[in-house]
Amino acid sequence: MAGKIPRSFIDDLLNRVDIVEIIDSRVPLKKKGREYWACCPFHGEKTPSFSVSPTKQFYHCFGCQKSGNAVGFLMDYDHMEFVEAIESLAGSLGIEVPYEEGSAPPRPRDDLEPLLQTMEKCSAYYQQQLRDSPVAVDYLKNRGISGQTAKTFAIGYAPPGWNSVQGDTQKLLDTGMLLQKDGGKPYDRFRNRLMFPIRDRRGRTIAFGGRVIDPEDNPKYLNSPESKLFHKGAEIYGLHELKQSVTNIERIYVTEGYMDVLALHEYGVKTAVATLGTAINNRQIETLFRLCKNLVFCFDGDAAGKKAAWRSLEECLASLKEGRLARFLFLPDGQDPDSYISEFGQAAFDELVGCASTLTEFLFENLLGECNIRTLEGRAQFLDRLRPYLAKIPLQSLKDQILAEVESRIGQKVDGRMLRVLGEPRAVETARPRVPETHWTPTRLAINLLLRQPKLAALTGTPHELADSGIPGVDLLLRLLDEIHDEPAISTQNLLDRFRGDAHESHLYKLAAMDPQTTADDSLERMFEDCLQRLQKQYIDHRRKRLIDKLQAGETLSEAEKTEHRQLFTNQPV
Ligand code: UTP
Ligand code: MN
Repeated sequence: MAGKIPRSFIDDLLNRVDIVEIIDSRVPLKKKGREYWACCPFHGEKTPSFSVSPTKQFYHCFGCQKSGNAVGFLMDYDHMEFVEAIESLAGSLGIEVPYEEGSAPPRPRDDLEPLLQTMEKCSAYYQQQLRDSPVAVDYLKNRGISGQTAKTFAIGYAPPGWNSVQGDTQKLLDTGMLLQKDGGKPYDRFRNRLMFPIRDRRGRTIAFGGRVIDPEDNPKYLNSPESKLFHKGAEIYGLHELKQSVTNIERIYVTEGYMDVLALHEYGVKTAVATLGTAINNRQIETLFRLCKNLVFCFDGDAAGKKAAWRSLEECLASLKEGRLARFLFLPDGQDPDSYISEFGQAAFDELVGCASTLTEFLFENLLGECNIRTLEGRAQFLDRLRPYLAKIPLQSLKDQILAEVESRIGQKVDGRMLRVLGEPRAVETARPRVPETHWTPTRLAINLLLRQPKLAALTGTPHELADSGIPGVDLLLRLLDEIHDEPAISTQNLLDRFRGDAHESHLYKLAAMDPQTTADDSLERMFEDCLQRLQKQYIDHRRKRLIDKLQAGETLSEAEKTEHRQLFTNQPV
């Protein structure tokens, strides 16, 4: 169980961060009136209907109705989990997230330092060993890696002995540098291997990959196990070195091997990275896309390579936002980027990159597969296969482009029914941000006013009797009033956050986003009181009507109802 984060901390966090800043750094915003606007990053559109309110600290899209606060935005846009989003916001303010007693997850930050130092010492040791080992140096030379590249990547060598690495045994065990079987004597995990330090984004060594030098040994590559420092699925090999070597990243090459990264670097392609023996996941892809909008995935041309490429494509789709481009490069049979660039050089490699398939091309090639699109059934089958992939793409313009491609491939217009399943048609252009008009009932207006200024609740108690009025939405208003009466000083963003995951959440955001035309702020109180009066009046009308209906139906009224009738129809105080 993940540790629970105290409500008070989340409130405080939401009051301290600025959602405009958070969103603006990812989706550039323009100020118009009181709000900030952009084209919605969650659905495709040509004119902005995505609004961010600096006063209410939330975003709302009038087109696709997506809304939320800073935490929600990070969850949706950066695909974070809730706790991750909280951690990220707290990190940006330089504060620690407290977890409630008993259920706290491991708190990495405090005790990582000694383990990091252990790894740093190992790395220095291996690099020293490399300098002292003619066999290892020859191996690197034979593979075309210069001393300079070896230095950039801090390549090292683990000697053949079983007890070479030095340091605190427990820390070496915790980081996986030592192995221990059944309480026996600890021994070196890496022996007689070329060592590739895996460094995190800040350049700290958190793990190693080791390649055999003796072809008789196996496995060919050995990685550090998962540890407090190292989470394979979160790391990307070569990212730190890339950022050190290049300031203006035009394109990132995603390869499958350590040696691919090294060889490409050696031959002048300094922006290659690699996954660590696993398929790339969306989180890693997001990390890369945030650095550079242009990714080239490199794979072997064989069946296994095609399969790996397809998995990468699937992981890519959700990240295809404005301007992001993914391409797929398939190397000739039996080659990988390392062997190719070593044999043919950078110019040939560049030429190959020029021929890389676009994501759309690769998508079609794969899905068209066995579908015979000359037949009606084949075309239907193809569209069936395409649909789930298209559904994952957040960018409408890319969907439109794919749709156009579909039409050209199958040689016919895709009709309305198919269009619907493939995505909404292109948005019609208008000049201003699209804010739909709402019919402002007293309930809606009261909710809107309370969200703008929770303090207004002090003007009234909670009129619980209205729960019986049958007025749509009134129970939500009552809940809102109760919440504020519990915490009279609550901020708008905290109030909205009370409804996180609630069935009414999106309705609330929508009402909060649509401010009716008003004059100066001081009239909010009068508007609010007026709403309450109108609601009371509706309630009385409702009760009157109920009594009249009863009488007209020939029913007799109870004593209580008779009293009510007297009150309601003779202007007595109710
Ligand atoms: P490859 O087998 O394609 O090796 O593995 P390579 O990158 O071409 O390496 P060289 O050229 O033979 O030296 C690709 C990646 O898969 C992981 C490693 O991360 C490697 O870089 N791998 C491979 C393992 O983790 N274990 C293995 O035994 C083999
Ligand atoms: Mn290779």
